[in-house]
Amino acid sequence: MNNFIFENTTKVFFGKGCVKEYLACLTKNFEGTVMLAYGGGSIKKNGIYDEVMETLKAEGRSVVEFPGIMANPTYAKVLEGAKLARENGVGLILGVGGGSVMDCCKAVSIAARYEGDVWADFWARPGIFDFTLLPLGVIVTVAGTGSECNGGAVITNEALKVKTGRDYPQCNPKFALLDPTYTYSVSEFQMASGGFDTLSHIMEIYFSEPDEDNVSDDIAEALMKNVIRNLRVAMRSPRDHTARSNLMWDAVMAENRIIKLGKKTDFECHQMEHQLGAYVDCNHGAGLAVLHPVYYRHIYKNGLAKFKRFATEVWGICADGRTDEEVALAGIEALEDFILEIGLPVTLRDLGINEKSDLKAIADSCACVPGAYKTMTHEEILQIFKECY
Ligand code: NZQ
Ligand code: ZN
Repeated sequence: MNNFIFENTTKVFFGKGCVKEYLACLTKNFEGTVMLAYGGGSIKKNGIYDEVMETLKAEGRSVVEFPGIMANPTYAKVLEGAKLARENGVGLILGVGGGSVMDCCKAVSIAARYEGDVWADFWARPGIFDFTLLPLGVIVTVAGTGSECNGGAVITNEALKVKTGRDYPQCNPKFALLDPTYTYSVSEFQMASGGFDTLSHIMEIYFSEPDEDNVSDDIAEALMKNVIRNLRVAMRSPRDHTARSNLMWDAVMAENRIIKLGKKTDFECHQMEHQLGAYVDCNHGAGLAVLHPVYYRHIYKNGLAKFKRFATEVWGICADGRTDEEVALAGIEALEDFILEIGLPVTLRDLGINEKSDLKAIADSCACVPGAYKTMTHEEILQIFKECY
């Protein structure tokens, strides 16, 4: 294992009814106005907004709303939120939604308290926090990103055509409320997208050195099997509480830094997907679904033993009478079959990329990360995009 330091400061409250039970006493710890941040309105349709507002009103809290956070939140939206927070004496941001809402809120918690150029100093390059961020608490309504328990804030700078984010421990939410029943109203497509995003996070970590015996890889295999099993159940029965609970917790376990400990991590598929998102605003989990099998066919020879282990341990493929290469490829095929089974797309065309899209410009804008079994070049990324098209 590589050396590591571990810390995760988010306090998690998990389970049915947790918002009703704990929200009031959690918000008491923060003075000033509460900024209630949310997305395009799903929380008004499914009753979550009313439940949260009732609690805040009963506590006599003054509330300012920050609605309309879009999927793939933009830097412009972050600046809008920061201005609102400054003008209204906000003491706590309460983000209610999925990764997009949570990421935007984390960025607002920096921007509302920072005098300089937030993008230049915290997204374009790693920044140093010599100031206190505006505190953030989150209520998760869709499982997938795990943003609720990390410091990552993935933001799209539309002017620069860059979608990126770094995991700053200071941006971890102060508290996260996770009620699996809040995810019941998520569409089948978004549930599959979120579930695949979780699976992608685990794979991005698993397929990286070191490959010697290590606890992170063993946990990763258990988590991957849990995501696959429970996503299958939830596709059949969306209100299966056990399945929705497992998917919600899998998302946290994949991205709360625990299984990254001692590992290099890959995340090249995420780099590629984020830039596709910057250009065509595609759905995150769907973009990953298109890229993963093709990317893995490009790199598996550089991590053959691990791809074989993935096939046998995660997908239960029998290795008898087959070469290592055949087993590894069968594992990638099983992943591809699963993507089709859960109804996610398999071509870039499905994501909104068309003949007018400049694939070369998108490929050239992707970062080539050092932690993968094989470091990509921009030419090879372009090749992958063409194969996905
Ligand atoms: O906006 P509303 O109306 O709320 O609808 C949302 C949105 O359309 C809907 N939704 C959420 N909860 C719902 C619901 N619909 C019905 N019932 C509910 N209970 O779901 C749609 C997608 O929401 P979004 O937050 O965009 O999805 P997700 O959680 O997948 O977040 C994606 C964003 O997170 C970033 C992605 O790049 C993308 O920008 N990521 C953040 C990470 C992090 N901070 O750790 C890691 C990830 O790798 C990822 O990059
Ligand atoms: Zn992701």
